Amino acid sequence: MNVTKKKYLIAYFSRPGQNYVSGRIVDLKVGNTEVVAKKIQKKTGGDLFHIETIAAYPKDYTETTAVAKNELRTQARPKLKRKVENMGVYDVIFLGYPNWWGTPPMAVFTFLEGYDFSGKTIVPFCTHEGSGMGRSEKDIAKSCPKATMLEGLAIHGTNAGSAALEVSSWIDKLGIL
Ligand SMILES: Cc1cc2nc3c(=O)[nH]c(=O)nc-3n(C[C@H](O)[C@H](O)[C@H](O)COP(=O)(O)O)c2cc1C
Repeated sequence: MNVTKKKYLIAYFSRPGQNYVSGRIVDLKVGNTEVVAKKIQKKTGGDLFHIETIAAYPKDYTETTAVAKNELRTQARPKLKRKVENMGVYDVIFLGYPNWWGTPPMAVFTFLEGYDFSGKTIVPFCTHEGSGMGRSEKDIAKSCPKATMLEGLAIHGTNAGSAALEVSSWIDKLGIL
């Protein structure tokens, strides 16, 4: 049998600091999306890549919502700290992000516009406070039309820590392992 094992990348944006979780402000040491990204890593054995902007977002939740709103309005493309040097080797890219005003943070689009995803599969996942995936899947598909996109997973931020089973059965259902 000649089975070549697929290579998985888990690229995610996640912002630690103050966040709004189930109606109150809490200080997250590790962002919710990062928590989920690590569960996907455990399940797939893939490589983790943190999409991080050079300019840090404020620790304060309300200040961050204002910065993010302005970035969305201007369709900003914040500069990133680093690139995936060997994107060519990956077959499947899990793409994680928090829902920010209904779509991924603009830094996720900086990331997507930096590579050629022809022939690759993108699997989105997000954490949120009630809006689910919002319009993120549509916006991502527009940004990388040459990729195949599979059904995403939305996890309420509060449940990030206990989502292992949900993550596992979602990946099993996708049939990509
Ligand atoms: C700037 C900003 C905008 C947000 N907008 C939304 C939103 O429109 N809908 C929603 O359900 N949650 C929204 N949230 C909540 C986050 O999606 C949620 O807390 C997420 O789990 C944070 O992930 P992280 O800790 O990985 O950054 C927003 C949070 C921030 C900071």
